[in-house]
Amino acid sequence: MNKPLLAALKGVRQSVPPIWLMRQAGRYLPEYRALRAEKGGFLALATDPVAAAEVTMQPIRRFGFDGAILFSDILMVPWALGQDLTFGPGEGPRLAPPLIDAQLEALARVPERLEPVYATVARVAAMLPAETSFLGFAGSPWTVATYMVAGQGSRDQSETRAFAYREPAGFGAIIDAIVATTIDYLARQIESGVEAVQLFDSWAGSLSPDQFERWVIAPNAAIVAGLRARCPDACIIGFPKGIGGKLPAYARETGVDAIGLDETVDPGWADAALPQGMAVQGNLDPLALLAGGDALEAGIDRVLAAFPDRPHVFNLGHGIGQHTPIAHVERLIARVRGG
Ligand code: CP3
Repeated sequence: MNKPLLAALKGVRQSVPPIWLMRQAGRYLPEYRALRAEKGGFLALATDPVAAAEVTMQPIRRFGFDGAILFSDILMVPWALGQDLTFGPGEGPRLAPPLIDAQLEALARVPERLEPVYATVARVAAMLPAETSFLGFAGSPWTVATYMVAGQGSRDQSETRAFAYREPAGFGAIIDAIVATTIDYLARQIESGVEAVQLFDSWAGSLSPDQFERWVIAPNAAIVAGLRARCPDACIIGFPKGIGGKLPAYARETGVDAIGLDETVDPGWADAALPQGMAVQGNLDPLALLAGGDALEAGIDRVLAAFPDRPHVFNLGHGIGQHTPIAHVERLIARVRGG
């Protein structure tokens, strides 16, 4: 087996950094837009294992990335916990009822809503080229909870932050439910064929230090421990977006194998501050990829130069934007691979 991405995540530096991009399957690809239109929407696509496997494979066929990421969404877990989930055209996702005015215990859980995800994983695992690593994922509890409480995305997560101060026990019960479901969800992804998993904590940066310990560090550590109890070899990437100076504590205290860096982090600082030998992933600014030209070339070179000894996986600092030209993605891959 020679899978450069998996090897790098496990701590073996590769001479050419393996590359994949967050949100690599999605709207910037015409073949994605065509299949999504045919299926009638995001949820119909994500719950159809044949279609979801096809979407997972699209960027692998087109670009030959070193990793494929399961096509799904972090909001599948709230859906399985019993909230209604809709992705309306032109607006963000909605969860109903919002837990700001409904009780978690009043929801009827629907674990079978996750079954198509495991079927998708099994299909992709059978289709991938031998050198391509397969990543599963879930949202981290704080980020998922911000959508469950507010019922939708929000600019600064203020409803959920206030709710967590006002009703710490009730909020803790929501976090605990997400932790338990996520451990099972990720274990089943691994048992179905993914080789590593990423925990997306997109809103980890909005919390004060004590709240960060309680709602980011502790639940992510619980997921890592619970997942390793079921799948001892689980390889886990943590992506706590926007946490800056809290990264070394996150790396030490959660137990993840690798850390995803967002584009606001100075990669040279991260190289010096993170535990020696720990793999890092990142962190080209997605807007430099959108812009192309000199900004792209210089941005790539800065990231490539920042980790002279450490295992590094090349990625963006956040998901690829939907208006990103395909030629810029091709250029990025060529330059990272020595073109
Ligand atoms: O990376 C991949 O290619 C795998 C698939 C994936 C999706 N969402 C597909 C998707 C992954 C890993 C996610 C993670 C996700 N989803 C996060 C964490 C990462 C991040 O971007 O911060 C969050 C916060 C969500 C919740 C979510 N899903 C939002 C806010 C939206 C709407 C905004 C947007 O970017 O469209 C979605 C929809 C969504 N999830 C789309 C895709 C491809 C677009 C749906 C469409 O086709 O219209």
